[in-house]
Amino acid sequence: MKEQLEALRAQAMEELASLRSPKELEDFRVRYMGKKGSVTGLLRGMGALPAEERPIMGQMVNQLRQELEDAVTEKSDSLQAQLQKEQLAKEKLDVTMPGKKDAAGGLHPLNVVLEDIIDIFQSMGFDIIDGPEVETDYYCFQALNVPEDHPARDMQDTFYLTDSLLLRTQTSAAQARTMETTKPPIRVICPGRVYRADEVDATHSPVFHQIEGLVVDKGVTMCDLKGVLEQFAHEIYGEDTRVRFRPSFFPFTEPSVEVDVSCSACGGKGCRVCKGAGWIEILGAGMVHPRVLEMGGIDPEVYSGFAFGIGLDRLTTTRYKISDIRLLFENDLRMLEQFDR
Ligand code: DAH
Repeated sequence: MKEQLEALRAQAMEELASLRSPKELEDFRVRYMGKKGSVTGLLRGMGALPAEERPIMGQMVNQLRQELEDAVTEKSDSLQAQLQKEQLAKEKLDVTMPGKKDAAGGLHPLNVVLEDIIDIFQSMGFDIIDGPEVETDYYCFQALNVPEDHPARDMQDTFYLTDSLLLRTQTSAAQARTMETTKPPIRVICPGRVYRADEVDATHSPVFHQIEGLVVDKGVTMCDLKGVLEQFAHEIYGEDTRVRFRPSFFPFTEPSVEVDVSCSACGGKGCRVCKGAGWIEILGAGMVHPRVLEMGGIDPEVYSGFAFGIGLDRLTTTRYKISDIRLLFENDLRMLEQFDR
């Protein structure tokens, strides 16, 4: 029986060494030390032994049992440690790996410039207003001193929707609406899209953007117009930029001017951006025509005002030296991401 016990010990130890998982270990424990296990079997077999050998044998079996239990505990600990090591290796994080950058949206260059323009006029006390893109012939033309059949209509090729409804060709339509609904003093700008039936090329698009401005109060003069617009040009293009006012014509202003700034690309020497002129036209303006005030319900004997219309697309392309207006509308991210801030 002693030999049997030694053989069992050797077999158990060998088997134990080859176990790979807690489940195998538990099976092992049951197989040897469970109720029907081999070691328990040995104890049962002792009944057949002579009485004087039983205590010695019993002691030996119990010792084996204790040994195996200790070995199982030890194996269990080392298996746990091994498993934990494997788990940690699997979950290992390389904190030095470069992160994945989330793609974030940004402002379109037109909006970057528009926000600057809004900031400038807001700091001068202007309110920001909105007007409809589908406009009536009345607000877009008639109320601005452009009657039907007036030759000035040729200046703007219009998309008509019906005889009296059109896509606004100029944000000036917002002037006429504002005068009707607001008592002076008025100080507003109205940014928005405008539409003209133009062929697309490097400097023309059937959809573009203007920012209309209107100031009406007692005693407003051409000096106010010049002061506000010069200040605006300097804030957009920098203090060193020269500003010039050229006589011009618009049906809704008298006198009318166009405002040029010295070319920011060449400093006024003449280059591709300014087409050799050294100057870039950025807006039209003038003193609001008395007839326009009158049609807006404002007494031109008491009030006067000035108005202006800024071309946002032109301002944006010249500021960033963008050679073709079409780039603003093609939504090529490689181009747009260069201006985001
Ligand atoms: N609406 C004009 C245009 O589209 C620009 C303009 C000129 C607006 C003079 C004005 C202004 O308010 O006073 O060409």
